[in-house]
Amino acid sequence: MTQTIPAPFPALRLRRTRSTGWSRAMHRETILTPADLIWPLFVTDGQGVEEPITSLPGVSRWSVDGIVARAKEAVALGIPCLALFPNTQPERRSEGAEEALNPDNLMCRAIRAIKDACGEDIGLLTDVALDPYTSHGQDGLIDEAGYVLNDATVEMLVGQSLNQAAAGADIIAPSDMMDGRIGLIRAALEADGHHNAQIMSYAAKYASAFYGPFRDAVGSRGLLKGNKKTYQMDPANAEEALREVAVDLAEGADSVMVKPGLPYLDIARRVKEQFGVPVYAYQVSGEYAMIEAAVAVGAGDRDALVLETLLAFKRAGCSGVLTYHAAHAARLLGA
Ligand code: PBG
Repeated sequence: MTQTIPAPFPALRLRRTRSTGWSRAMHRETILTPADLIWPLFVTDGQGVEEPITSLPGVSRWSVDGIVARAKEAVALGIPCLALFPNTQPERRSEGAEEALNPDNLMCRAIRAIKDACGEDIGLLTDVALDPYTSHGQDGLIDEAGYVLNDATVEMLVGQSLNQAAAGADIIAPSDMMDGRIGLIRAALEADGHHNAQIMSYAAKYASAFYGPFRDAVGSRGLLKGNKKTYQMDPANAEEALREVAVDLAEGADSVMVKPGLPYLDIARRVKEQFGVPVYAYQVSGEYAMIEAAVAVGAGDRDALVLETLLAFKRAGCSGVLTYHAAHAARLLGA
């Protein structure tokens, strides 16, 4: 962008354009709308069930009927897409995560119910990774030493993707960070006739301390031994994130995600500048919890904190944000 040589003060007073509300509105460079939001929702078994999640105050798991109600709410609010995560009953979890391939698993039932109720009024982004289904809480299959096996896991992820696409998922979102999975999932989707099933790759996903409440929500925190550092990225690395993105795009990802959100805004910006593709950020559970904790002690105003943080993603170059505050933000934006 060309920078003009600034006039010297007082010819130039940058405060002039900020002096009134109408002028601030006129000079605003970035706009946040409900269409920028993707709403993550947690599905649980049963009927008429709402289970509040203690570490995510204000967020609940819902049984499929409740999820359908949330989907209708999202449509009314102008939210274009939901991200679904299942809380699989412990007895359906296993070492080999076979439940991920069950065409009647919680995820598939939720997908079908929402599609029946809302049709094309809302998009469904579905998480591909094995952690909601493994008895050990890792995102993949493990060997005797507990190491997460890449190629065997990818085989499962391909099956999981086809299972979700067959149920009606619109965007397959692999969050597992295995190598080579995007290309193999894309090829399988094409071979199965799912030409318009998109892939949003969690391309730059970090081994972060901000995922704790999410693991409570899907029920994997207590099960997980160790950490996910042999597959999720080192928070110290940025160049490596660009390589991850390049690889996933080359393998056929339609869009890419950076995760977590605010602490990694530099990564989102660099991905956008370097590749010019649709970039999404995930304002993750720990970030949501931080905002709510600040509100609880009177350290900040919820509405203002939510809108400012979400706007920051847009300013950084993101096409949209996954946020647990999506419905609240959409209500504020629509008011
Ligand atoms: C698991 C997955 C995680 C999140 C989304 N998918 C947790 C993890 O990697 O351990 C985190 C989302 C959040 O914290 O809100 N594949």
